[in-house]
Amino acid sequence: ETMKSVTGLADREKEVAERLQIDRVIIVPGNSDRYSWVKKELGRACIQQMKNMLQPEDIVAVAGGTTLADVAEMMTPDEKFSSVTFVPARGGLGEKVEIQSNTISSTMAVKAKGNYRLLHVPDQLSREARESLVLEPGIKELLRLIRRAGVVVHGVGAASTMAARRGAEDDILHILQEKEAAAEAFGYYFDRNGQIVHKEKTIGLQLDELQENQKVITVAGGASKAEAISAYMNYRPSDVLITDEGAAQAVLGD
Ligand code: G3H
Repeated sequence: ETMKSVTGLADREKEVAERLQIDRVIIVPGNSDRYSWVKKELGRACIQQMKNMLQPEDIVAVAGGTTLADVAEMMTPDEKFSSVTFVPARGGLGEKVEIQSNTISSTMAVKAKGNYRLLHVPDQLSREARESLVLEPGIKELLRLIRRAGVVVHGVGAASTMAARRGAEDDILHILQEKEAAAEAFGYYFDRNGQIVHKEKTIGLQLDELQENQKVITVAGGASKAEAISAYMNYRPSDVLITDEGAAQAVLGD
């Protein structure tokens, strides 16, 4: 199951990049479905990419999930991060606190010796609550920072896994099934063609407002995520995909 040589891995990165139409793909050894240390390696590779891409004073918008939690865990102080501000990409999505984007972005900032801002919004907002919350000065300011993010870092999950983990209601599960949702990222669900089929009721990063100059780093590994990664990249190919051998082999169909 492991790759034959180091050269093989570099070739694989090119193949996956071509298949998914992404500029840059980084593959770490292993399959994170099987071994948890592989996620830590994804984290290490992600931090390296962040350091390469960040400009002084940049805002980094960070999503949630167990993969991003491992990115935060691997973070170490670096001069590059001292003027950087970490913000959560979107409000609560019904996850445990350890893997919420607020927790992850603040942990990352503390470990990096950078700065952070929290977005205090409850999960599952009604339209009325959303509409009035975005007018609150503190929240408005945070949303402005999120919109200005130079770098966005996020994970991708299989739609069914994510819906189950977040305890989605029956009507939502029905929509996801009906519309053949394959992937989830930032609280958005996508079908295999990359069409958005459902959006969680929270505020923050609006995917359709992302500009060309905002760099997106996607971190997702494990063979079980191959379909989800391909589906999501059909929506918007990221600037960098950090993945593992397990997912790469499955994306390439071997
Ligand atoms: O928002 C969560 C991601 O879509 C995937 O989460 O890193 O725990 O698999 P994960």
